Amino acid sequence: MNIGLFGYGVVGSAVYNVLNHTPTLMASVVKICIKNPEKQRDIKPGMFTIDRRELLDNPAINVIVEMTDDAEAAFQIVKESLQKGKAVVTANKKMVANHLPELIELQSLYNTPLLYESACCASIPVIRNLEEYYDNDLLHGVEGIINGSTNYILSKIFNENLSYEEALKKAQELGFAESDPSLDVEGHDALNKLCLLLVHAYGVIAHPTVLLCHGIHRLNHIDREVASAQGAQIKLVARAVKQQNGEVAAFVLPQFVKPPHLLHTVRNEYNGVVLTSALADEQFFYGKGAGGFPTASAILADLSALRYDYRYEYKKLLLQEPSVLAADVKLNVYVSFQDWQLLPVDAFEEIHEYYSGKSFHYRKGVVSMKKLKGSDWWKQPGVSLILQEDAILKSPSVIV
Ligand code: HSE
Repeated sequence: MNIGLFGYGVVGSAVYNVLNHTPTLMASVVKICIKNPEKQRDIKPGMFTIDRRELLDNPAINVIVEMTDDAEAAFQIVKESLQKGKAVVTANKKMVANHLPELIELQSLYNTPLLYESACCASIPVIRNLEEYYDNDLLHGVEGIINGSTNYILSKIFNENLSYEEALKKAQELGFAESDPSLDVEGHDALNKLCLLLVHAYGVIAHPTVLLCHGIHRLNHIDREVASAQGAQIKLVARAVKQQNGEVAAFVLPQFVKPPHLLHTVRNEYNGVVLTSALADEQFFYGKGAGGFPTASAILADLSALRYDYRYEYKKLLLQEPSVLAADVKLNVYVSFQDWQLLPVDAFEEIHEYYSGKSFHYRKGVVSMKKLKGSDWWKQPGVSLILQEDAILKSPSVIV
């Protein structure tokens, strides 16, 4: 394999490093395309170029590894690489989530593989497992902590009493956060990854803009106290869950999680994914979900898979009957707010508990996912929305 690398940040430099120490892969890096030539780097300058053509037009380069943070520029690079018959390994979840239909078509048109295990949960091999292993067993649900930065921040807040700002700064320093960290804390990164899980778990192609998503940026210290009082922590959870009618409900929301829930054990930059299926029951994937070397481990696994011509078949989408997204489900939520004006009178369908203090109020009850998607009161400063442990209200037929 003669490899062209795009990007030499936390992940790119780790991949370069690891490739140089993995002779069994018989892969060599020919050239690295970067954005900023002024930056001090630890390898000889002759390896770098700022001209993407030096990689894309080089017929000797047969594999492109794409690790940039610009989804649209990355898509053009990946598209041209596939058109030219260069296999692509990418860590760019936003690019894949935004362009899944085109990327699936390009792979088939040009008969060239695109692999992206590192784009979801970094070191955890969840995409390939969903694609290959969970092929026949009835998959009831995929539920996970799939963003390392937010889990790191929440762990530091809950376990070490750090402030949100301090914890975010540390996550950035450690190279877990995106270059634009709002992608992490507002839930978009987890949402992009959920879109990858959806296509490999259920054959559902969903653009990130159609799914309900909320991050951890509106949580306040009283939410934290409410969580602690009930023995819970708050985690950012992504889920895709099959409903009684076969439709799949999918969203990313902060949630109260307490023992013995498996996700309660997932700390710091670790990710965890719980799969529930008819025959195997509950299974738990756990591993580092962010950082240079954990991400490089999945990129290496993809490069290695290219050696035996592995490619995604998108079995659930192309070889089976794909599932459809649920238009609505009822969610059990907790909403805290500083001012009554912030809460529409019809926000809740049922109220189970409420508290009202001088400058802080909360309600617990049932809201409609569809109605939430169509409104934005819950995104406003001063409002915080958190899923309760029993996140999705079961329909009466299920209870019976
Ligand atoms: N910013 C991402 C995270 C990096 O924190 O999970 C790994 O995808």
